Amino acid sequence: MVMTGEDRVAHTEASDFNLASYLEEKKQLVETALDESLPITRPEKIYEAMRYSLLAGGKRLRPILCLTTCELMGGTLEMSLPTACALEMIHTMSLIHDDLPAMDNDDYRRGKLTNHKVYGQDIAILAGDALLSYAFEYVARRTRNVDLANLLDVIARLGRTVGAAGLVGGQVLDLESEGKSDVTVETLKFIHIHKTGALLETSVVSGAILAGAKPEDIERLSRYAQNIGLAFQIVDDILDITASTKELGKTAGKDQKAQKATYPSLWGLEESRKQAQALIDDAIAQLKPYNRGAEPLKAIAQFIVARKN
Ligand code: FPP
Ligand code: MG
Repeated sequence: MVMTGEDRVAHTEASDFNLASYLEEKKQLVETALDESLPITRPEKIYEAMRYSLLAGGKRLRPILCLTTCELMGGTLEMSLPTACALEMIHTMSLIHDDLPAMDNDDYRRGKLTNHKVYGQDIAILAGDALLSYAFEYVARRTRNVDLANLLDVIARLGRTVGAAGLVGGQVLDLESEGKSDVTVETLKFIHIHKTGALLETSVVSGAILAGAKPEDIERLSRYAQNIGLAFQIVDDILDITASTKELGKTAGKDQKAQKATYPSLWGLEESRKQAQALIDDAIAQLKPYNRGAEPLKAIAQFIVARKN
């Protein structure tokens, strides 16, 4: 039987675990912490620009994944909340820069005008820079009750994730591939693993490391995260074609317009959906040893393929 997106949501809701209320509860924690993390001070303009994008909503998937794996591995909120906020600061900065005219030149993000459309390119670049450096300061200063070697490991992983070995590397290859008709599946996979997968993986793994998880658990959770990371990007490419600008909160149909190589452009929509589902099935298989404790991670994986924005 082939399941549709709606079937999968219904399936998720049919279990006694309620993903919608779980996500809402965690999202509220994250929203409050993000709001408190960045008070406005002098020079007001840069703080306002940073807050404009940081508090623009979004699914808060990366921070929630960090909180969830930390809890699964026996950790507490005070261990993981600063890193959770830092992950969202990094994600937000990458979107501010991705939307700049020199990159994807986008006018809308999260249902609002993009940062540079409101504050100008100069301030948008600086707001991204400031969010990135503040993310590291925030983790280093605010984390409590974590073994210092583990905290150092998380900080190093965050650094690797945003640099040329992660987001920046993926973005460079993405820009280089634009307009080319001979982009291979391998190149596309490299782009997605680095541009999107790396930060999702670090979100999952950092929560576990902060909690002091064992190497075998970290390995399982890494594999879970790599699979959901790739599936997330495949679904993003599908939604760019199938969803409306209103549903997405960002301009729909951009990939085709920019002649970007995407999974649907290489495989077609149906095969792309199948591949995303296979990745989610593998991700869920990694959670077997955790039984009911892994319900949130399992439901989040299912949500990634069923999501509408
Ligand atoms: C959105 O992809 C963009 C990203 C996931 C990350 C882009 C990375 C950078 C701009 C590098 C950031 C710099 C540092 C220092 C971390 P997309 O354009 O495919 O998706 P969209 O439709 O949401 O724009
Ligand atoms: Mg973009």
